[in-house]
Amino acid sequence: MNFKRNIIITGGAGFIGSHVVRLFVNKYPDYRIINVDKLTYAGNLANLRDIEDRPNYMFVRADICDFDTILSLMKEYAVDGIIHLAAESHVDRSIKDPFTFARTNVMGTLSLLQAAKAVWEAFPEGYEGKRFYHISTDEVYGALAMNHPEGIEPPFKTVASSEGHKAYGDDFFYETTKYNPHSPYSASKASSDHFVRAFHDTFGMPTIVTNCSNNYGPYQFPEKLIPLFINNIRHGKPLPVYGKGENVRDWLFVEDHARAIDVIFHEGKIAETYNIGGFNEWKNIDLIKVMIKTVDRLLGNPEGHSLGLITYVTDRLGHDARYAIDSTKLQKELGWEPSLQFEEGIEKTVRWYLDNQEWMDNVTSGEYEKYYDSMYKGR
Ligand code: NAD
Ligand code: DAU
Repeated sequence: MNFKRNIIITGGAGFIGSHVVRLFVNKYPDYRIINVDKLTYAGNLANLRDIEDRPNYMFVRADICDFDTILSLMKEYAVDGIIHLAAESHVDRSIKDPFTFARTNVMGTLSLLQAAKAVWEAFPEGYEGKRFYHISTDEVYGALAMNHPEGIEPPFKTVASSEGHKAYGDDFFYETTKYNPHSPYSASKASSDHFVRAFHDTFGMPTIVTNCSNNYGPYQFPEKLIPLFINNIRHGKPLPVYGKGENVRDWLFVEDHARAIDVIFHEGKIAETYNIGGFNEWKNIDLIKVMIKTVDRLLGNPEGHSLGLITYVTDRLGHDARYAIDSTKLQKELGWEPSLQFEEGIEKTVRWYLDNQEWMDNVTSGEYEKYYDSMYKGR
């Protein structure tokens, strides 16, 4: 079958990647979607069961650092677009093992860029019609001041900001905000962003970078706050709140991020940066209380039943105080906006984890990893 486009999505077996793969496979039957994923602990093909048999989807188990494999894949399928999500993504792991983060996030991105350069420059039309779209994070900008610890009326109104929602400082991350990463994770992402922009500026590669805030929703690996805490509440286990639980994050439903990626891949301007976020700031402790309330209600527990699980623990090293994205540029220029009120999104997310206990048990027991290792041995 001849496809209109051949697109590699890296990290498609991970949390956000699986939502992007699903959206593209369903929405564009005339595109071949090639999911390239190493299947680290964070990659799980069970995230894609519903689309894995589609004729426009294929999976390749590969490490993005493996330049030769990426090069031959790009040549074989005449790949004309790359949406790059593969990464080591967990800040706590980066504090313990920064090397792995530099390898995958920096060298892996460089390997993809070099392969794309070699293949695209050899086409008669060169870079025309090609896209290298790099998915990055708001964490590269560093941390914002919390100069309104009790919160103020936010300056922006969007569908994601519910009644009574607050902003915890005057400043926001803009596309023009100077990079100032603090963790090994964000330092590695910042470095990869610089490489992507350098390939545009030096070689004319058609690149785009987006920086998104914290995502939540189905299929997130349960080492991250929201799925970890939902699972712990369900099992009556302690909820380890770092420090005083006062850090602020800006939460976006993962399907809204995937929609933004679709719009930007197709309509975004080459060499531009777009910030993606929901104008939806929450102090960790307030968010945790919403999760407790929702899980208790859905499990039929009395209100307040699981509040005693909250356990304050030693803070994360270098813990960034506040993230808050200004996504006005994306909203104004490309017409994207978040679709969900946070309360709806959290309810949907809690329900999904409670209804998919088998998925959670497989992930927490590590069963899925053993299965892939036998299935893909030697590939
Ligand atoms: P994730 O950890 O859930 O998934 C990462 C995926 O990449 C996994 O499937 C893993 O197997 C794969 N991978 C890791 N190393 C690889 C390698 N060397 N070669 C090939 N595949 C490899 O991550 P996520 O939360 O879905 O994040 C996806 C991307 O979005 C990352 O680049 C991350 O920095 C960025 N991001 C995440 C968030 C968030 O809130 N989760 C927010 C903004 C940006
Ligand atoms: O901002 C975007 C980033 O969001 C992405 O780039 C990262 O890939 C993604 O992992 C996420 O990073 P965070 O560090 O913000 O997410 P995490 O879920 O690990 O933590 C959210 C907040 O909750 C953070 O302030 C730390 C706190 N926390 C986290 C865990 C896992 C706790 O208090 N206890 C916990 O056990």
